[in-house]
Amino acid sequence: MLAERAATQAEAARAIAERTGVPSHRAAVVLGSGWQEAAAEIGRPSASIPMSELPGFGTPSAQGHVGTVHSVFVGATPVLLLMGRQHLYEGYRPAEVVHPVSAAIAAGARTVVLTNAAGGIRQGLRVGEPVLIADHLNLTARTPLDGATFVNLVDAWDPELRALAKESDPTLTEGVYAGLTGPQYETPAEIRMLRTVGADLVGMSTVLEAIAARALGARILGISLVTNLAAGVTGAPLSHAEVLAEGRAAAPRLGKLLRSILERL
Ligand code: HPA
Repeated sequence: MLAERAATQAEAARAIAERTGVPSHRAAVVLGSGWQEAAAEIGRPSASIPMSELPGFGTPSAQGHVGTVHSVFVGATPVLLLMGRQHLYEGYRPAEVVHPVSAAIAAGARTVVLTNAAGGIRQGLRVGEPVLIADHLNLTARTPLDGATFVNLVDAWDPELRALAKESDPTLTEGVYAGLTGPQYETPAEIRMLRTVGADLVGMSTVLEAIAARALGARILGISLVTNLAAGVTGAPLSHAEVLAEGRAAAPRLGKLLRSILERL
């Protein structure tokens, strides 16, 4: 199982190298809900591959997830942009959810930037604000790891990378991201519970990818775009359309932020 997975990751990494003409990509960015349009600000892709043509990759079905892998040079640094991800709520298994990130690491990425849309739980968070992930709560009851893989998650969200992101944008705040399976949004009671246990942000992705990336030794940076205030904070109903609209509105800022971070790697 483990060996089989590693073989598929290596196969995908070879396909990425062949089809992009880049032997090794230094970093990878996963662009989640609300982040797709930020990609245009990072740079013009020198190659693009549909995820459906890469070994082991599924095709993201969530609205607003493109399902393409771009190769982009930021200065002299070759970067993979993973446009969209697979989620547990689409019926993917943890191993499938983390495969693109694992393949990107096999393709050379020592740094992985995980982006997502999140509901803002902490008071003071504003819609349209990007927030650095300082720590997470894996509330999916799942793991991408096999057997006795004891991975350290102290400082999992790399302090140096967070400092570097704050050099790019000194107004960035940090928060604890709670990852749930979804796809239903939370109830106001669940949000009160999450606030009590220390969550600042809530979403339906990222935590399994973070664990897999740490197990493979890559450095990770996480950025949540607050696309809405969490259930019950304002009394307004939640919708995926709102999540995507806030992403579009924030795209220029998010793209510049990502570019500036990638330039500093
Ligand atoms: N809850 C869960 N996931 C989300 C939310 C939310 O409020 N906003 C964007 N993704």
